[in-house]
Amino acid sequence: ALEAETQAIVEQFEFSDDDVNKAVKEFLRQMDEGLSKDGTSLSQIPTYVTSVPNGSEKGRYMAVDLGGTNFRVCSIKLNGDHTFSLTYNKVTIPKELMVAKTAQELFGFLALEIKKFLQEHHGEVFEHHLKRRLTVSSPDGFKDEPIFRMGFTFSFPVKQVGINKGTLIRWTKGFDIPDAVGKDVCALLQEEIDKLHLPVRVAALVNDTVGTLMARSYTSPGKYGSILGAIFGTGTNGAYIEKLSHLKKDLVGEYDNSTGQMVINTEWGSFDNQLNVLPSTKWDNALEEGSINPGFQMYEKRVSGMFLGEILRLTMLDLYNNPNVSFLKDENSSFNDLGSVTVIDRDSGLYKPWGVDTAIMSKAEADQGSELSVFRESLEKELKIYAAALEDAVAIKRIAHAIVRRAARLAAVAIGAIVIQTGKLNDPELLGEKIDIGVDGSLVEHYPGFRDMIKEALKITDGIGEVNAKRIEIGLTQDGSGVGAALIALVAARMEQKDT
Ligand code: BG6
Ligand code: GLC
Repeated sequence: ALEAETQAIVEQFEFSDDDVNKAVKEFLRQMDEGLSKDGTSLSQIPTYVTSVPNGSEKGRYMAVDLGGTNFRVCSIKLNGDHTFSLTYNKVTIPKELMVAKTAQELFGFLALEIKKFLQEHHGEVFEHHLKRRLTVSSPDGFKDEPIFRMGFTFSFPVKQVGINKGTLIRWTKGFDIPDAVGKDVCALLQEEIDKLHLPVRVAALVNDTVGTLMARSYTSPGKYGSILGAIFGTGTNGAYIEKLSHLKKDLVGEYDNSTGQMVINTEWGSFDNQLNVLPSTKWDNALEEGSINPGFQMYEKRVSGMFLGEILRLTMLDLYNNPNVSFLKDENSSFNDLGSVTVIDRDSGLYKPWGVDTAIMSKAEADQGSELSVFRESLEKELKIYAAALEDAVAIKRIAHAIVRRAARLAAVAIGAIVIQTGKLNDPELLGEKIDIGVDGSLVEHYPGFRDMIKEALKITDGIGEVNAKRIEIGLTQDGSGVGAALIALVAARMEQKDT
């Protein structure tokens, strides 16, 4: 019975070839809509970045990164030969700051972390700056201060109005500080940095997907650079290179229009909020009811790490409460090769909303052993489910796989649509060449075979097909927030020089 019930759940996460193709068409339609006006579900945000690096860029920059699993402060040295060196500190953002009353609480915390980083890794510059502050009285005296230019990777939807200016549209990924919405996030951070008198200037505002695209172009010596940077981590999103002629919205900030193109932050997490083509199971609906942003990020809720664990938890609870099956229950103990009785601790994540971390799905998939002993150990350590029977572990693994497979096929929808939109597959100059894409994030990094499942779906996508799917290279690109943000800080510096 357990097997049949598991199969019934697995089937509900099917996303057929036909579904993929319908969704790609809708993605293309929503992309176009987002390029023409504001307030659409795919935001298609212009970034004012009009070229990607070629690897020869040089310099030392700072970067901070807010919006993934960790908050990171980095200093980066770009060597100018496709390589870089990077030093960083990382901390987890305290949960209470994610839902703080005022923006100042969160940004004040970030500034303090920047201060700690400077003291630890750039002590001399920091001391020097402090001394000069004490001895130089005229503001002009600061002109030759060793100021660090900093790229701010802020991975939320922001209406960008210039390279270092942008107002927060809405929070995602569990953050909720209404006070910050509509404010310029660079100014909020700079204010807190200035309160601590740090020698740092926020020079560029960067989404993590844009950082990933930049980093990929800098490090991959490919002839034609990369066309898309995508994140499949806590959240999901992509930034790609679009022709300026396709962009029909007003551009308010300054930019270099000589390249005829601009990087667009799609904010695809909110693709199809209206659910024209996205699949919805009863578990998707239950997750939605318990979320802090109902109606938004509907695609992200089916694709990214923050949510997949919760979908799995809801299916597991259903099986557990199903009177027709024995799942994680003592009755299974007769099959229990561990020779003990299954016990679920009262404190188990199974019983708590958001209590199942997506990481456990990667562990299930990675465990190829016939006893699933590594995965069953994680069930004990992470979920306090002790001595689960093999049958139960197999059921969880199968459902987890179905949930992630659906996510990967949805990921292919976004990637496929963007590859088609750029027209690169049919560009005569690129005949037979690779079409490069940079990806980052815990899901694509740790879930075995995630990229292969994307590739499978690209093969059956109309307008791509088997031969072209082979040309699409999906490369893991880490440190986008560090290197990518540094590269944009460099672009910003060049723009300033042109102005003066
Ligand atoms: C990191 C990038 O590697 O991946 C971040 O540097 C990005 O900028 C993050 O936000 C996304 O992954 P996750 O899993 O941390 O959300
Ligand atoms: C969320 C954010 C987006 C970010 C993505 C990946 O979707 O809104 O800006 O790029 O997560 O971190």
